[in-house]
Amino acid sequence: MAILVTGGAGYIGSHTVVALLERGHDVVVVDDLSNSSEASLERVEQLTGKGVAFIKADLTDKPALDAVFEEHTIESVIHFAGLKAVGESVEQPLRYYQNNLISSMNLLESMSSHDCWDLVFSSSATVYGDPEILPIPETASTGATNPYGRTKLMIEEICRDVAESDPRWRISLLRYFNPVGAHPSGMLGEDPNGPPNNLVPYVMQVAVGRRDQVSVFGDDYDTPDGTGVRDYIHVIDLALGHLAALDHLPKGCDSYNLGTGNGASVLEIIQTAASVSGADVPYEITDRRPGDIATSLADPTKANTELEWRADRGLEVMLRDAWNWQSKNPHGFNPPE
Ligand code: NAD
Ligand code: UD1
Repeated sequence: MAILVTGGAGYIGSHTVVALLERGHDVVVVDDLSNSSEASLERVEQLTGKGVAFIKADLTDKPALDAVFEEHTIESVIHFAGLKAVGESVEQPLRYYQNNLISSMNLLESMSSHDCWDLVFSSSATVYGDPEILPIPETASTGATNPYGRTKLMIEEICRDVAESDPRWRISLLRYFNPVGAHPSGMLGEDPNGPPNNLVPYVMQVAVGRRDQVSVFGDDYDTPDGTGVRDYIHVIDLALGHLAALDHLPKGCDSYNLGTGNGASVLEIIQTAASVSGADVPYEITDRRPGDIATSLADPTKANTELEWRADRGLEVMLRDAWNWQSKNPHGFNPPE
């Protein structure tokens, strides 16, 4: 019996595969490598001394997905595969709806036709839009502000409907806050294609000298220092959250916030990154980024109690591990020749 990890060659997926292998699970990864490379899985194997069955396939290809379930006995699925760039989703909405929705519907169909009913899905705090309550509980109202976020909301709804239709389903919707950091070995980490959209990878590329300075998107928010506040969570804590979710799958379908409950501002991230790396991190204040909110902060109480899970790695550890990865792999998994 194996756990199928879709998108397992990606950032969060590869860290979760390590945690699963270390826990003694057999793992099958399906990934089309559209935003990753097989090098991450080679590192996973080096780190753990264990093998991963890898199938390069696109989840929108239903026959290819069915073949995976026919060749392997899958007990449960962690579904990371998807496109995730907010700006790109505004420019190419149909590509996002096609990829994220069709993949997820194919997966649910293949699972049920192969008698597999246990699913953990990568949702996002983006489903809360501009939150009315802070910290945000799972019961807060939802409403996405871009096509990427809408795919997450739609997939959540599809999962709820599917779970309603057959009592055998057990589906956990994990709403991640802001995943950052890397494996403490420095062998695995985030390796974005092109200029990073997210703050921490950008800051790390400035610290390592690949980029000149960080643009701080606005210092006039209603926050203690005027810059945006987010609930950053170490990718290792997030990976462990998936193991906890598998151990405590709900009957039917339920959602859980995976965050720390602590906030950090853009300037705090820049200062902490400079201090743990010993590098200069120059920055300039620029205009706000359209669509950004002032503060996003999880209420993780439900995951703490029902999943018996807690994110306990602090900001310094997150940024130290991110720096360790970036400084050992300044060009990511595939350095230029
Ligand atoms: P990632 O891009 O590193 O990993 C996603 C993986 O899915 C990639 O390896 C990509 O090649 C693969 N993939 C995409 N479409 C596919 C398809 N049709 N068939 C097969 N493989 C496909 O991203 P990540 O940061 O590891 O995120 C994993 C999941 O978590 C995504 O669903 C993302 O939306 C969600 N999420 C991420 C964040 C974040 O900040 N990283 C926050 C909230 C939610
Ligand atoms: C973004 C996405 C969100 C997604 C999340 C994780 C947007 C609007 N939101 O969230 O949907 O789930 O990534 O992938 O894109 N910042 C800077 N300079 C930078 C980059 C960011 O000042 O170069 C600031 C932002 O304004 C924000 C904070 O840093 O206040 C964090 O930004 P980012 O890492 O992009 O995450 P989110 O905006 O929270």
